[in-house]
Amino acid sequence: TGRGGTDIISTVEFNHTGELLATGDKGGRVVIFQREPESKNAPHSQGEYDVYSTFQSHEPEFDYLKSLEIEEKINKIKWLPQQNAAHSLLSTNDKTIKLWKITERDKRPEGYNLKDEEGKLKDLSTVTSLQVPVLKPMDLMVEVSPRRVFANGHTYHINSISVNSDCETYMSADDLRINLWHLAITDRSFNIVDIKPANMEDLTEVITASEFHPHHCNLFVYSSSKGSLRLCDMRAAALCDKHSKLFEEPEDPSNRSFFSEIISSVSDVKFSHSGRYMLTRDYLTVKVWDLNMEARPIETYQVHDYLRSKLCSLYENDCIFDKFECAWNGSDSVIMTGAYNNFFRMFDRNTKRDVTLEASRESSKPRAVLKPRRVCVGGKRRRDDISVDSLDFTKKILHTAWHPAENIIAIAATNNLYIFQDKVNSDMH
Ligand SMILES: *[C@@H]1O[C@H](CO)[C@@H](O)[C@H](O)[C@H]1NC(C)=O
Ligand SMILES: *[C@@H]1O[C@H](CO)[C@@H](O)[C@H](O)[C@H]1NC(C)=O
Ligand SMILES: *[C@@H]1O[C@H](CO)[C@@H](O)[C@H](O)[C@H]1NC(C)=O
Repeated sequence: TGRGGTDIISTVEFNHTGELLATGDKGGRVVIFQREPESKNAPHSQGEYDVYSTFQSHEPEFDYLKSLEIEEKINKIKWLPQQNAAHSLLSTNDKTIKLWKITERDKRPEGYNLKDEEGKLKDLSTVTSLQVPVLKPMDLMVEVSPRRVFANGHTYHINSISVNSDCETYMSADDLRINLWHLAITDRSFNIVDIKPANMEDLTEVITASEFHPHHCNLFVYSSSKGSLRLCDMRAAALCDKHSKLFEEPEDPSNRSFFSEIISSVSDVKFSHSGRYMLTRDYLTVKVWDLNMEARPIETYQVHDYLRSKLCSLYENDCIFDKFECAWNGSDSVIMTGAYNNFFRMFDRNTKRDVTLEASRESSKPRAVLKPRRVCVGGKRRRDDISVDSLDFTKKILHTAWHPAENIIAIAATNNLYIFQDKVNSDMH
């Protein structure tokens, strides 16, 4: 890890067609990768992702009123649907959301009348005739420019941003509030959820993630540290404190322990592409919820159940507070989420098969095949099995993304980005 950990990847996001992939890091940088078009001459380089643009999105700041350092770490990136030749994305740290515009230039104007090629004003006495400037081809340049800065909307740390399907608004959620913004207006937002109690000592629950429904612009969901999901309808009331639906699984009393509440905190929530289901991740499981069934999830998958007996030490080393994300594949039939030891898990909802895979330099060589890994708990140990006690808890895969239409996944493992695809593997640093 270089630059004092500033290159640790903190978010990964494909654009809506999957041709572009953006990552954000702890140092406030955004790196955009672009998928190369298929090439007949080099079949194995087909569809690889190469760096397209890198820019500094956020800088460290200091809040003098509260004497607080505001980290530059990028918490989330969201692409806006493309409306013209330019691409746009939103990036956020704990406090400030920025809208960036990414444009390509492969021509430059030449032959100005009043300035020379370097842009300096010419000596007017040398200008004797008028010429028409022309566009000359040049090497492709990608330009990134800040378009809007949405500041001062949040007192607490922003954990999510989500662009509405109306393509005009987006929301941002912090620990206690959710705001709705118009993409063109930076100086005001509308507060749509506020769970801050009158007395902060009564605080028992915080907002952990939030997302708009993919098709119904009036619906959104937010998850909480108590393991519940609230589906809200903006048509019902301007302030959505009275959720329309509460999704919550009753706790199994036989499993109750000191850690129950911590491990039930939802670290991520994602609507399926169809809009019919929601996927949530908590410390030990991923769950699929049907929007029409509030009482319990329709599917629960164990991510690393062997950690159930290790919660005490995971609490002591703070790992129990790790926030793992989760992702659907393009057809909502497979679920992916991260784990420790650079392992990540996939669950096939139809066949009920699950697999543990490893993001490593070995597995990312071109044409390498991802080999399933197994963690063994005591008892019999097969060759290549890894024992629970030798898992490396500093190597965690928190951020993953699945291409919206193909079997291509992006996995952030500390400061390495791995992109695995059906035909070729690639590894980027
Ligand atoms: C995603 O990026 C690709 C590559 O530039 C572009 O062609 C496509 O329109 C983008 N998709 C959307 C929906 O913005
Ligand atoms: C209770 O614990 C067992 C394993 O100890 C686990 O399989 C089961 O899913 C847990 N129940 C709930 C509701 O989490
Ligand atoms: C989702 O995964 C299933 C099972 O591997 C696969 O058949 C399907 O093509 C995937 N869908 C997309 C859009 O990648």
